[in-house]
Amino acid sequence: MISGGCDVVRLAERFGTPLYIFNESVIRQQCRAYRRAFDSYAGGATVAYAAKAFLSQAMAAIVASEGLHLDVVSGGELYTALQAGFPASRIYFHGNNKSDDEIAMACEAGIGSFVVDNPHELARVDLEGRARGRRQRVLLRVAPGIEAHTHEYVRTGTQDSKFGFDLETGQAMDAARLAAAAPGVELAGLHAHIGSQILDTAAMEPLAQVLVALATEIRRETDVVMGELNLGGGAGIQYREEQSPSPTAFARAMGDAVVAACTAADLRLPRLAVEPGRSIVGQAAIAVYRVGAQKHVPGLVPYIAVDGGMGDNIRPSLYGAEYTVVVANRMGAPATQRAHVVGRYCESGDFLARDVSLPSVRTGDLLAFYCAGAYQLPMASNYNRVPRPCVLLVQEGQADVMVERETFADMDARERLPERLRSQSVPAAT
Ligand code: LLP
Repeated sequence: MISGGCDVVRLAERFGTPLYIFNESVIRQQCRAYRRAFDSYAGGATVAYAAKAFLSQAMAAIVASEGLHLDVVSGGELYTALQAGFPASRIYFHGNNKSDDEIAMACEAGIGSFVVDNPHELARVDLEGRARGRRQRVLLRVAPGIEAHTHEYVRTGTQDSKFGFDLETGQAMDAARLAAAAPGVELAGLHAHIGSQILDTAAMEPLAQVLVALATEIRRETDVVMGELNLGGGAGIQYREEQSPSPTAFARAMGDAVVAACTAADLRLPRLAVEPGRSIVGQAAIAVYRVGAQKHVPGLVPYIAVDGGMGDNIRPSLYGAEYTVVVANRMGAPATQRAHVVGRYCESGDFLARDVSLPSVRTGDLLAFYCAGAYQLPMASNYNRVPRPCVLLVQEGQADVMVERETFADMDARERLPERLRSQSVPAAT
């Protein structure tokens, strides 16, 4: 198996497993596809990569060099982006519960925009803006009451959601009035995100309509023009056989919906912003595991255990996510069995692929999971005190480490054994 011109089997020998391998060309190709896709929208467009899908300093540097903006949701993501030299002015700061320290940190860094989620945050940003003698640019996040058909846990646009100002009860309009009057804030636009792994873009139409209706009402009441509409991210990718929208199709659905809604409302076209995460980085990586033990019980589907699992990929356990799996050291070998691929963690729910077709597999073989780039490593844990994987960036036959494999010592680095426990006597075993 080859990735980015590198032999995956050799990489696994050299860097160990579990190993995540990101192909730089695929990331760049997706960034460019998104930028190109929005070129045809007449109001101008901003493409921001949603860092929550996967962030490392190298990833931030790639995204910056492709001219994209960045969406961060925490002080930690902001810190990594700034460490990588990502231009602060191209950063959006999201999140439903930003701390006062995070708000101050972001203002201090000079970030481009806050996507404000609640009245408390609006007041804090206003305070920080005034303290610095400037108006901090903000978008208001709206809960539009619109559903895309996605997994319940990744649905974000419904009325009963923890995110954003409620539209129906007038909370969004109240927030706009407050923001328009706040001297430390520049109310620049509206934001909504209706879900992730969206395969059907039909919901963009009602989404654009409700945002444009709100923008119209805000202009009427406050005279402030919503110069930017940010419709969030959410484009799905093909993990197995599903049909996913291309960046072009996604851009067309968003752009057409906004143009139609603005024409109907006689509103000047706003700048359109979009925040893809998964569809930029999801297909760019594979996760490579080594097969260890196997368990065969006559009459039952066998278990193949690998050296990773829910610690580096919680998605199958959490969302029932499914993947395409291959034997990396015997590509093209015909499938001869059904098997469960399970992890090495002490939990029955620790499976990576349930009842999938595979060739016969021996201990020491390498299993590669496609589409491993999004929401796996960012959701990784040290459950069972298992160190997190090594992460590589490959390009034209060259492999560079993006994130070193975690060590036992790394995991213990923040441990403090109080002196009184260190010096206490340990009784002999009875
Ligand atoms: N913008 C906002 C406000 C978001 O909440 C998200 C994702 C995105 C953009 C990017 O969405 P994307 O293009 O990546 O679909 N952990 C889940 C996905 C959670 C998505 C959270 N928000 C998973 O593993 O499927």
